[in-house]
Amino acid sequence: MLQEQWAIWKIMPTGKRDSAGSIDATANGLVWAILMLPAPLFAVPPILGLQPWRVAMTPTGVASVGLLTVALAISPLLLLFPRSSSLLWLVRHRRAVGVAAFSYAALHLAVFIPAVGRLDYILLGMAYPSMWTGWISFALLALLAATSNGLSLRRLGVWWKQLHRIAYVAALLAYGHWLLLTSSTGWAAYCGATLTVLQALRLPQWYATRRKHTGSIAETTVSASRRL
Ligand code: HEM
Repeated sequence: MLQEQWAIWKIMPTGKRDSAGSIDATANGLVWAILMLPAPLFAVPPILGLQPWRVAMTPTGVASVGLLTVALAISPLLLLFPRSSSLLWLVRHRRAVGVAAFSYAALHLAVFIPAVGRLDYILLGMAYPSMWTGWISFALLALLAATSNGLSLRRLGVWWKQLHRIAYVAALLAYGHWLLLTSSTGWAAYCGATLTVLQALRLPQWYATRRKHTGSIAETTVSASRRL
């Protein structure tokens, strides 16, 4: 199942499934399908020859960055509004949002290839910052997607969560890609700034957890040395 495979923003990185696991998987599939509803509107006109392929690049790219931003913004927003029912709902379906972000990026790449039409041009283009930012961002999203299954979760253990933090790098590269390719810098800058501010709100919580962790290690060391 797609939603099983692409668990980029899995709620439980320990690999455990909640008791309503299968219900969640179905609901996530539905949310993903709803988010993907506009995709045929972008892809079908160029397939039918009604529009140039290039036209589909803007909506697919913007949809991907937008969904990626939403997926990464959910946790910090929940810190601000812990009782918000819509945010709690989004947390449950964050995986579907991530899947949709990756799916739109894949569609973006799928329309880019016929839009350019020549492999040598595509390869030469990779040397430009406006292009390699997009390629690396896509490669990172693909890596996250490839390791977002139950087997990878079990094998990577605690490292799984660390690895999946590269979603932030993928987002930053995508903002850079957008900034470099569009004449209006507005939206890329707004998305990047909003996500940075929201992530900064997590710093006190991160600091408190770190202090608690360091404190408990120090306590264990002191009591162990007393016993010696
Ligand atoms: C896979 C490698 C990628 C390639 C080769 C690529 C290529 C391109 C190209 C050529 C454009 C300009 C389109 C135009 O002039 O109309 C573009 C725009 C854009 N791309 Fe990518 N891209 C890639 C990956 C990504 C990824 C991963 C994202 C998002 C996560 C993304 C988001 C965007 C956005 C938001 C735009 C600007 C749309 C606009 O304002 O017109 N791209 N991309």
